[in-house]
Amino acid sequence: MRRRKFFNWAGIGLLASYFPIALAACSQEAREETSGTEATTKPTTQIPDADGYTTVGTAQELTENGYLIDSKSNLIVFRNSNNNLTAVSTVCTHQGCKLDWKNTSNSLFCSCHGSEFASDGKVLNGPAQSPLSSFEVKEEQESILVKVS
Ligand code: FES
Repeated sequence: MRRRKFFNWAGIGLLASYFPIALAACSQEAREETSGTEATTKPTTQIPDADGYTTVGTAQELTENGYLIDSKSNLIVFRNSNNNLTAVSTVCTHQGCKLDWKNTSNSLFCSCHGSEFASDGKVLNGPAQSPLSSFEVKEEQESILVKVS
């Protein structure tokens, strides 16, 4: 009987000694999640609205950067000199490699085989033959929205 009582108390003591460590670990994790949320200006999961438009950034970000990239949807948004918005795919139409924006030539460049595309998706240099897919894009209340579905 005494032995059983001893093991019960020892078990409770062991659990009690781990409780502050487990509590501290949970608290640290909660703090990191909070600070990550505060540092991010865009939601990590963007849900399309009823019309299928998804917010990809703000008009201010577009003005400051010259473009907006949505890596989840593989698209890039530009505002041309006539203040019109264009959104095109960042997937090369040759064999599907990812394109990079080149500020020096104002073009989307494919490092796989050297194709180049204009900001409206037209082919500037092959081997790609087809223009990039384009998306409907609009500006509402300082947000840039693209119809991805
Ligand atoms: Fe882009 Fe070939 S995949 S040029």
